[in-house]
Amino acid sequence: MSLLTILEFPDPRLRTKAQPVTEFDSALSSLIDDMIETMYQAQGIGLAATQVNVHQRLLVIDVSENHDTPQVFINPTFTIVDEELNDYDEGCLSVPGFYETVSRPRKIHVTAQDRNGETFELEAEGILATCIQHEIDHLDGKLFVDYLSNLKRQRIRSKLEKEHRKSA
Ligand code: NI
Repeated sequence: MSLLTILEFPDPRLRTKAQPVTEFDSALSSLIDDMIETMYQAQGIGLAATQVNVHQRLLVIDVSENHDTPQVFINPTFTIVDEELNDYDEGCLSVPGFYETVSRPRKIHVTAQDRNGETFELEAEGILATCIQHEIDHLDGKLFVDYLSNLKRQRIRSKLEKEHRKSA
C-alpha cells in the first residue's frame, strides 16, 4: 500500500466532476486500500477519490470510534429521508486546519456499490449522513467552504495560499 497526496484548496483539480467507476478490478481494489491508508494516516473520517486527484466516483469513510471500520462507497447516490437539518462543525483534509458549521439534511438513503460491484443500500443519519454528503460533494467538485460566506471562504483561501507558498 502507499500513501497518496491529498490536494488542498484552492487547487482547481478539486473542482473536477468525477466519472462513474466501471471497472471493478484489482487496480480499483489497490486504489481503495491506498485511500483508506491515506485517510487513516491523515486522521480523517472520509476521503473522496477527487481529493487524491483520481476523478472517479469513489469514497471511503470511517466514522467508527476506534477507526477500524472503513466503509467503501462506489458510484454513491442518495435521497433525503428527513429534510430536517443537522449542524456539524465540518473539516476537510483538503482544507486543513479549518472547521466551520455546515447544515445538511439529517437523514439520507444511500445506494452505492462495494469493491466487487455489488449494489447495497443503507440509511444514514448523524455524522455518517453528514460525512457521506460531504464526500459526494467532492465527487461533484464541491467543497464545504462553498457553503460559507464569500468573506469566510476568501479568508480561508488566503491563509492556505500563504501556507502553500511557505512550504513550496
Ligand atoms: Ni472533505
